[in-house]
Amino acid sequence: MTPVTHAPLSNEAAIHEPLAVDGGTPVRPTLLPYGRQSIAEVDIQAVVDVLRSDWLTTGPKVEEFEEAFAARVGAKHAMSFSSGTAALHAAAFAADLKPGDEAITTPMTFAATANCVLYQGATPVFADVSADTLNIDPEKISRRITPFTRAILPVAYAGHPAEMDAILDLASRNGLLVIEDACHALGAEYHGRRTGSVADMTVFSFHPVKHLTTGEGGMVTTDRADLAETLRRFRNHGISSDARQRQSDGQWFYEMVLLGFNYRLTDIACALGLSQLKTLDENLSRRRDIAAQYSEAFANLPGITPPAVRAEISPAWHLYPIRLDLEKLSANRAQFFRALRAENIGVNVHYIPVHRHPYYRDRFGFKAGDYPVAEDAYERLISLPMFHGMSDEDVSDVIHAVSKVASHFRK
Ligand SMILES: Cc1ncc(COP(=O)(O)O)c(C=O)c1O
Repeated sequence: MTPVTHAPLSNEAAIHEPLAVDGGTPVRPTLLPYGRQSIAEVDIQAVVDVLRSDWLTTGPKVEEFEEAFAARVGAKHAMSFSSGTAALHAAAFAADLKPGDEAITTPMTFAATANCVLYQGATPVFADVSADTLNIDPEKISRRITPFTRAILPVAYAGHPAEMDAILDLASRNGLLVIEDACHALGAEYHGRRTGSVADMTVFSFHPVKHLTTGEGGMVTTDRADLAETLRRFRNHGISSDARQRQSDGQWFYEMVLLGFNYRLTDIACALGLSQLKTLDENLSRRRDIAAQYSEAFANLPGITPPAVRAEISPAWHLYPIRLDLEKLSANRAQFFRALRAENIGVNVHYIPVHRHPYYRDRFGFKAGDYPVAEDAYERLISLPMFHGMSDEDVSDVIHAVSKVASHFRK
């Protein structure tokens, strides 16, 4: 294998290199994933300490993590869950969604956002996205509100918050709750406010590709004590007290007051989360730095549109989704994607719009063209590698590969 070049190539130099997909030399010898956790020795030690302690679950680390997390995002309460999906389910329950109710969300998300509405027997209603940020468009939400609407679930796509002021305004005028799916957006800021303190409830995920990981895990933040109490009970079978509280009170008595689940996050996981929270700022600043390098490199690269950032938004950059200007390229997204993968760049696609999944199509009769902005974006989207542990060489490799493939396919 010939030596790998790490400096980003000019478009002119890149155009002459044969693509790896056609038998040329890949930009790098090993696959760079699109996302990856960073685990430090202190994180490992924090987990080991819990393994040697009395409490593997429902112990002190849960509360410590929740309190530190609430303080970090500027919310009064934070409740941990076994996954972001469980956290969404709990938020939909706390919002009292039930059969006959509707909740409005975006098609440009992971299916879990809409699924939580279905778990409650309610109906998800989609509103199309804005063409620049691919976040739910408040104007399109307003057209979907009916007497049955109870909640709005905006998603901070890729880590860029949606237009929360307009959404909160719509909600307050129509008596709706806002559940923000911020699974991409830990550390984002919206008009000077931290994500996690803006909506009625905000949901986070701690999957390994996210900003902070607990293996699997999630969180709901809220300022409302009543919602916090329901969320806490829901994750613990609907029981009104937890085991540690009973032990310290010398009590055995408990009551199940609602139908909940076991959605608890362990102390092992919370210790990891607490330790990871300490490096969140470093993580965010590295992601912002990578995004700035990408955006500068792609600003004048024909065929590629970098992601947009609106005024007064500081995105958390969970993802860096570029869009292909297909009109200027002789390849479609699948060909472009395959070419980047062959260069050993672990690209991904976020998202197949939810209404295009067979389950949603079959159950609700959605069809192509129902949400044209999301569908058009889907045909063009490619998520580039974005994680805090990426080296400068990794970033250069991605820029090199995108320039090489775009130059090759330029019309
Ligand atoms: C937007 C969004 N919502 C919800 C989830 C679900 O989170 P989890 O994987 O922690 O269940 C994800 C996970 O990737 C997500 O990206």
